Amino acid sequence: MKNTLEKLIDKKISRRKLLKDSGKATAFLALSSIFPKEFLELSFFTERGSSNTNVFFNPIIPSEEDRLIIPKGFDYTIIRKWGDKITESENFGYNNDYVAYLPIDFLEGGKNSEDGLLVVNHEFPSQLFINGYTDDDFKKNKIKTKDEVEAEKRSVGISVFRVKKGNGKWEFVEDEQFNRRLDANTLFKIRGKAAGSEEMKSAEFAKGTLANCSGGLTPWGTMLSGEENYQDYYTSKNIWDYRWNDAETDYTLEHYGWVVEVDPFDKNSVPKKRTSMGRFHHENVSINISPMKNIVAYMGDDIVDKCVYKFISKNSYDEKIRSNNMDILDEGDLFVADFENNKWQLIDYEKRDELKNNFKSQADVLVNCDTAAKMVGGTECNRPEDIEINPIDNSVFISFTNNYKKEDYFGSIVRIIEKNNDPSSLEFEWEVFATGGVASGFSCPDNLTFDSSGNLWVLCDISASLLNKDRQKSFKNNSLFMIPTSGGNKGKAFQFASGPVDCEMCGGNFTPDESTMFLSIQHPGENSISLENPTSRWPNFGGDVPRPAVVAVTGFKKKL
Ligand code: FEO
Ligand code: CA
Ligand code: CA
Repeated sequence: MKNTLEKLIDKKISRRKLLKDSGKATAFLALSSIFPKEFLELSFFTERGSSNTNVFFNPIIPSEEDRLIIPKGFDYTIIRKWGDKITESENFGYNNDYVAYLPIDFLEGGKNSEDGLLVVNHEFPSQLFINGYTDDDFKKNKIKTKDEVEAEKRSVGISVFRVKKGNGKWEFVEDEQFNRRLDANTLFKIRGKAAGSEEMKSAEFAKGTLANCSGGLTPWGTMLSGEENYQDYYTSKNIWDYRWNDAETDYTLEHYGWVVEVDPFDKNSVPKKRTSMGRFHHENVSINISPMKNIVAYMGDDIVDKCVYKFISKNSYDEKIRSNNMDILDEGDLFVADFENNKWQLIDYEKRDELKNNFKSQADVLVNCDTAAKMVGGTECNRPEDIEINPIDNSVFISFTNNYKKEDYFGSIVRIIEKNNDPSSLEFEWEVFATGGVASGFSCPDNLTFDSSGNLWVLCDISASLLNKDRQKSFKNNSLFMIPTSGGNKGKAFQFASGPVDCEMCGGNFTPDESTMFLSIQHPGENSISLENPTSRWPNFGGDVPRPAVVAVTGFKKKL
């Protein structure tokens, strides 16, 4: 029986027991792990590479208020909220999660930080706020009408739209050339090693994209989005399942749980599902480039006891000719992290007897990737969420958000250092960078972002049902922290934002000049049980229902 990451952390940190106990201090740990020689130098890269160790804002304190609070001197503007127009006939969807900015001149090598495209995904609908469908309706087995289901289908997927900053304020721009909605009805081409297989029912296209959680940008200017909790669209056992009455017939289960790729610069391009990267509950994708120019994509499977993966492209990235990269994610090798042996284990049917004995083909392996990964030595982890790469030293940071069943209530952030600092290396070292808890001040880390100084921005996701009570009480509403990765404040969490009631904040990505951060406010008022008395009315207040929205936070010092 292999060790879980939890047990390996326990071995690494004898003080780990303290961390599990909500009553006692849960100290931050920036471990000076004893690394083998070939990793040792790398582990000090951050110390040398970054001089910005100052906290450049006045940290805020936790809050239960139904509003977005940011430090003095910063400002925010709502760019789009649920129901706002994106195109003539389509609206901004529900539960915006990932948000990223692409300069409008990106394809010419530009870094315009005041005119660009926002790509935003929409994770899941709210039955209550879209259709007035209550828990009581669920208990009475009420069937949704076709129109109600259709409204939910149109509320998920991905939004692409232009934004501009004029007179110091960001604004949505009506732009027919770029603005686009992809939803549960849009056709996605199935690509990669499972395409055309029996397991994919030989289909050429998948209907729509579901459960888009976090994402990532590629160096060639496309957006990758992770299909996460697609199972919620099928079963009708839980109060949070969506009960689309045609899910079982029109939405082939195996067509969801993939990484999807969208070209925001070409409205007419066909979006694609990249099956060579494996099917699981994808959180995000974070890309690095190896010294031989292979694309290395890190990915997490956000379910308790699931694994961390990386995909290494067969072909090299072409910096000059964009079209040569457009299908680069179809060919390559998939690996799973083995934290016990510090190795990336290959998930390849042809090369692993364990897989030959249990699966029919590589397509079968990819469709059932989480089972296959464990057979080749993948380590069980506590819900891997976002993975991001520190721009200063290439080390890879992973949020493990929590695992209540294993008494990990506050989560941790682990840092991987690849051998020889090569992202395509198959060996690595790792350490615990920070742990959530009362003493560190943050709990349940989810989305991560780095700024160019190597400061880690951590967006927390204490689930709405646990917020402001019991063990999670002191953290109050979900929040955003900045954690320096070098200097005197290394590993200390400074709170930058507090979100409205019941929300989680996502995205948190910067413009190239780092003067603006785009932030997603997802599921405000999620604990509401009626339309009349929602737990939040952010952002319109008055008699309105809560609305997920994307905001632009300004006031950061320009870096370009
Ligand atoms: Fe949708 Fe893993 O959070
Ligand atoms: Ca997430
Ligand atoms: Ca989450």
